[in-house]
Amino acid sequence: MYRKQHTIILSLAVIVLLCLAFTSILNDEGKKPVHIPPSVQRNGDSKKGYTYLTTGDYLKSGIPYSYYKLFNPKDHHNYLNRSGKNALVSYAYNVVTAPNKVTVVVPTCLQCHAQVFDGKLYVGLGNTFHDFSNIAAANNPVSDFMANVMQTITPKQYAAALPIFNSFDTVLPSMQTEVRGVSSAYKLATILVAHRDPQTLVWLKKPILDIPKGVIPTDIPAWWLLKKKNAMFYNGFGRGDFGKFLMLSNILTVKDTAEAEEVNSHFGDVLAYIKSINPPKYPKSIDETLSTQGKAIFVNNCSRCHGTYGSNGSYPNLLIPASIIKTDSLLYKGNQQNPQFIEWFNKSWFAQGDNPARLQPFEGYIAPPLDGIWITAPYLHNGSVPNLESLLNSKERPTYWKRNFKKPSYDYERIGWAYHAVDKPERRTTYNTTLPGYSNSGHTFGDKLTDAERKAVIEYLKTL
Ligand code: HEC
Ligand code: HEC
Repeated sequence: MYRKQHTIILSLAVIVLLCLAFTSILNDEGKKPVHIPPSVQRNGDSKKGYTYLTTGDYLKSGIPYSYYKLFNPKDHHNYLNRSGKNALVSYAYNVVTAPNKVTVVVPTCLQCHAQVFDGKLYVGLGNTFHDFSNIAAANNPVSDFMANVMQTITPKQYAAALPIFNSFDTVLPSMQTEVRGVSSAYKLATILVAHRDPQTLVWLKKPILDIPKGVIPTDIPAWWLLKKKNAMFYNGFGRGDFGKFLMLSNILTVKDTAEAEEVNSHFGDVLAYIKSINPPKYPKSIDETLSTQGKAIFVNNCSRCHGTYGSNGSYPNLLIPASIIKTDSLLYKGNQQNPQFIEWFNKSWFAQGDNPARLQPFEGYIAPPLDGIWITAPYLHNGSVPNLESLLNSKERPTYWKRNFKKPSYDYERIGWAYHAVDKPERRTTYNTTLPGYSNSGHTFGDKLTDAERKAVIEYLKTL
């Protein structure tokens, strides 16, 4: 009898201990950086990838060239040194032939992934000048009127434009951001996916997923970082084949999976091109002694997350849980709390075939490589911090700040956009860090350094 009771008590104790051990493992999970394993990627030809990006038809519906010409002046820069009609349009458009043989002008990746900086175009630098803050106004009665005229007088041209008109009508009214300079590409992807059958990719007039309200504002990472990363996107949720994510813009106008297959066949080359891009070098002089001091401080305080640089450099590929990084939560929560989007993707055409991709969300953010960090202001995934000085000293971060988009000026002292702080925010022109998604909190790892140490670290960051 006694023995039996003992056994029961003993087993209970063992169970309780096991439970405790188990919950502590679970708790640990949200508290430790998580390593991202590499996945198999396609090989390709970077030259072909570049040509495809800057002249190719990864969108096959666009504004008919004859109409585009009427409303857009000739582009005199020809930054990409292109020939033919491509030489006459902005670098962010390609002139291509639609399936019904109409010449159309299509927006390209460079809308978001290229920026003119000090007079030079950098392909792969995230565009922080895009204005999504007034986008709903672009979808106005005048454009409806134009579409009607086009349909009546040039039905073939209209047919070539219809898929992109449909997408724009559906997405533009919901893509508005609070301020210029941040992107609502997440919202774009969410809405487009909701209007596509996951298997056939055909356009569905009625959305099949719930579309979350609100817009998650983001900055745009530089393309030259991708060669070091084992997962794509700020949240590190892009796993498996990168090419499939790179071609995702194709769902703006894709007709069916036959078209998607054809476009997909170029994306090994596009990936090879993206991996071939190197960050631009800091153009001004660097104080060598100070940057050597900064390197030592960086190695002690930052390298465990951001890696080491130079010929023997290594990058740890870590996801940092929200409980440690404490930066704005809207983006990772958006991915976590929109399981329909994740499910759509993971059962879609993109997750199948020879090069499957998948989404695997995480409660936190990837610690990015810092190559070329001097040119990629503003900082953090939502672009809430104007310069490196305040990134490394959270007390210095402005709550409401403005930068001059018309006459942009870069502050080479503090490394970032020259800005001025204001007391009262104004919609569209002021970055308001008190709004959901726009917070400049977290990443306080530089706070414990002295002013002199921060200055040295910034000098070192200029060399990356
Ligand atoms: C409307 C703007 C927009 C367009 C057009 C666009 N992207 Fe992006 N792209 C983004 C944003 C925003 C992100 C950041 C999302 C994130 O990392 O969570 C991004 C991220 C990326 C990344 C970086 C991934 C990483 O983790 O380092 C690559 C590479 C990329 N896009 C390639 C492309 C290619 C190739 C095209 C064209 C076929 C394209 N994008 C078109 C907005 C855009
Ligand atoms: C515990 C890991 C960790 C440590 C330590 C750390 N960082 Fe970071 N860092 C991150 C993560 C994660 C992000 C991305 C956060 C986000 O965008 O929300 C980031 C972002 C940054 C960025 C902005 C990147 C961009 O493109 O906007 C810079 C610059 C940076 N860190 C520099 C440093 C420096 C310098 C140190 C040392 C003083 C440091 N970090 C220490 C994890 C870390």
